[in-house]
Amino acid sequence: MQDRSPSPGDLEPVERASLDELRTLQLRRLQWSLRHAYENVPQYRAMFDEQHVHPGDLRELSDLGRFPFTDKAVLRANYPYGMFAVPRERISRLHASSGTTGRPTVVGYTADDIRTWARLMARSIRAAGGRPGDRVHVAYGYGLFTGGLGAHYGAEELGCTVIPVSGGMTERQAMLIKDFAPDVIMVTPSYMLAIMDEMERQGIDPRGTSLAVGIFGAEPWTEDLRTEIEQRLDLHAIDIYGLSEVMGPGVATECVETKDGLHVWEDHFYPEIIDPLTGEVLPDGEVGELVLTSLTKEAMPVVRYRTRDLTRLLPGTARPMRRIEKITGRTDDMIILRGVNLFPTQIEELILRTPELAPHFQCVLTRAGRLDAMTVKVERRHGTSPEAARAAGRDLATMVKNTIGVSLTIEVIEPDGVERSMGKMRRIVDHRGDRPGPTTP
Ligand code: DLL
Repeated sequence: MQDRSPSPGDLEPVERASLDELRTLQLRRLQWSLRHAYENVPQYRAMFDEQHVHPGDLRELSDLGRFPFTDKAVLRANYPYGMFAVPRERISRLHASSGTTGRPTVVGYTADDIRTWARLMARSIRAAGGRPGDRVHVAYGYGLFTGGLGAHYGAEELGCTVIPVSGGMTERQAMLIKDFAPDVIMVTPSYMLAIMDEMERQGIDPRGTSLAVGIFGAEPWTEDLRTEIEQRLDLHAIDIYGLSEVMGPGVATECVETKDGLHVWEDHFYPEIIDPLTGEVLPDGEVGELVLTSLTKEAMPVVRYRTRDLTRLLPGTARPMRRIEKITGRTDDMIILRGVNLFPTQIEELILRTPELAPHFQCVLTRAGRLDAMTVKVERRHGTSPEAARAAGRDLATMVKNTIGVSLTIEVIEPDGVERSMGKMRRIVDHRGDRPGPTTP
């Protein structure tokens, strides 16, 4: 793999700031942001008043714990424009979250918000190993989803040549990687797997492409998947995190020189970890739900937004900003199976340790009577015999039982049997609420 570490002279001053400088900057910005939200968004004013707190009560960063949380329900209740803190004419762009049910959550940006986002994405791409002059293939979807346009503006800001492919048309993705010779690819990790398979189908050696860096996010993925992708593509696989409500991609990113968790760009976002049940703020190092407060957003400030993502805060390494550990899952993706909690990422880890199986899988939940059951549909890897793959499936079931402590069925299916997604992969298919179909007499 190429050495892609940025030289210290390429970093922004704040990426080399001392912790004291960073905390002072955060306090000043947080005071501004709370006041901005309180004075311009009736919803925040009502929530603060109800909790008897005022922006003036924030004297130090830890005072933030006295302020109310915001969540998706609050944003939905103010659909579409109720959370905006500037007149609608000053909104230069709208995006919406990828909610699968009900109303989407709408987010807005001023021209300055778009510039800040572009700079943070440029910083993220540089941290991941991208450089001015690189060719950047963007395979995140363009549209209301923040992935495509977020990556696009960031790569342009860094001075790269952007190839705005968007998601889908997998055959063409593989062809363009071969013909346009990009240095960097930005895509969801599950779609990267699909593109890799397609390259192999077309006789393109994935290790032989020009790609040196992959910037993967928008869904949970594991260290084992990083190893798989790095080995099969011979590139640096870097994690990027973000969410539309808080900005989009580029809230936190890994650094290529350490690959040890994602640095939260703390000059623009203040992270906290809470106990998801009690709302209590947990000390750094403890696992809980990530809560984010924006420090500079004009159009739509967010105060203590509950992300539902589970992780923990760790001290800075390659940068002074704290890191979040790779996200294991969302509180709403946690499967409770006969009293045992589990996340699809745990299944992914075990599948990747089974060479006969491919990392394309789905967890299907069903209910028979009062008992929940889970079947993992996983593909046989190309080149493995069906018998060997079935035997590996039986071993996988034993491994799941021994490590996670729950019995489930492993169904090994043929290559390409699991539905591919062009963006975020749907790992859980829940049939537990389904009613039995009408019986024919
Ligand atoms: O997924 C923004 C994004 C685009 C991030 C491209 C990275 C790359 P939403 O559609 O609003 O925004 O979904 C946000 O996706 O709360 C997490 O649950 C999940 N997610 C995003 N990045 C990661 C990641 C975009 N690196 C939701 N690891 C978040 C795990 C992630 N989960």
